[in-house]
Amino acid sequence: MSPNAAKALQTVSLTAQRKTAIVVGGTLGIGAAVARQFAKLGCSRVVVFGRNQARGAAVLEDLKRLAPGDSPVQVEFVKGELSDVQSMRAAAEALQQAGGEAGIDYLVMCQKGLPTATISENADGYDMAFAIQCISRFALAYLLTTRGALAPGAAVLSIADQGQSFDALSVDDLSLARHLATGISPTTMFLDQSKRDSSVLDAFHEELNIRYPQYRYFHLSPGLVSSEQFDVNKFPGFLKYGVWLGQRLMSSTPAQYAMLPVYILTAPAASITGRYFDSKLNPKPIGKWAADARNREALWGRLVGVVGEN
Ligand SMILES: NC(=O)c1ccc[n+]([C@@H]2O[C@H](COP(=O)([O-])OP(=O)(O)OC[C@H]3O[C@@H](n4cnc5c(N)ncnc54)[C@H](OP(=O)(O)O)[C@@H]3O)[C@@H](O)[C@H]2O)c1
Repeated sequence: MSPNAAKALQTVSLTAQRKTAIVVGGTLGIGAAVARQFAKLGCSRVVVFGRNQARGAAVLEDLKRLAPGDSPVQVEFVKGELSDVQSMRAAAEALQQAGGEAGIDYLVMCQKGLPTATISENADGYDMAFAIQCISRFALAYLLTTRGALAPGAAVLSIADQGQSFDALSVDDLSLARHLATGISPTTMFLDQSKRDSSVLDAFHEELNIRYPQYRYFHLSPGLVSSEQFDVNKFPGFLKYGVWLGQRLMSSTPAQYAMLPVYILTAPAASITGRYFDSKLNPKPIGKWAADARNREALWGRLVGVVGEN
């Protein structure tokens, strides 16, 4: 049975613990709500990363207002981009500095690179949306882990669809350019990009958990969350109507959803045995492509090659 995160969080307080939480993609939507939830629990430092300074400043004001009276929160906005490797490496450096000597206790990644059904290349020759959704999550987790920027026992958590599999995925065609050239429809491309993202995210989270067992790397599906900029018109073909209906019938607000990842991160480590969860916090296995160790090995080599060693 999935835990009742809202109820469990009523008994959680971070006030005396001197923890640092960093929320990437924290200026809007789920990320901003996660940052607010950390502030409410009395987290002593909350760092928000994103491109939009004005929205970042507004979130910082919320954090100060929400912190418990006896435990003021130290807040910081780090402005940055995640659309190519140069900007990802600069972001890792800035976040390591923001984490300071004590290091980062919680790193939550919510940056959005939604599939577009097409391909728009970034400076490295990768599809831009894929770079934001997947390569940047790998880059930050990998660089901050291997550069020693994480505090002892730290947890890294990524919010993006989990558990799907694009069985035909090749690490030589991560942007799916060859796949698109076969003449598939925009709807098929969108669905395959979504399965590709899930396969890649599952695969490197599993590798991170195997290679760096001193830390915990989580991957959680959001399901449908009505973030401020959620737009059904971004979904191609008939998917638009399904998403429209789903949003009306079963979506949650960012504040409701944010309790789930924050519960996973702040509950006693021994009580959280899984690493991968659906949108109701039921443990969910990684997808078929990611479960194959040969695929994970090939992907790891490719991603380290793209991002560069620390
Ligand atoms: N909401 C849902 O129902 C849903 C469903 C499935 C998957 N997801 C996934 O869940 C995650 C969070 O979704 P959300 O609805 O909360 O998204 P959102 O409201 O659109 O927020 C996305 C965040 O990503 C940041 N961002 C976007 N592009 C960036 C870039 N190039 N560099 C740095 N930061 C960037 C934005 O900040 P700035 O604009 O300040 O840069 C913003 O803080 C996303 O990965 C999304 O794909 C969401």
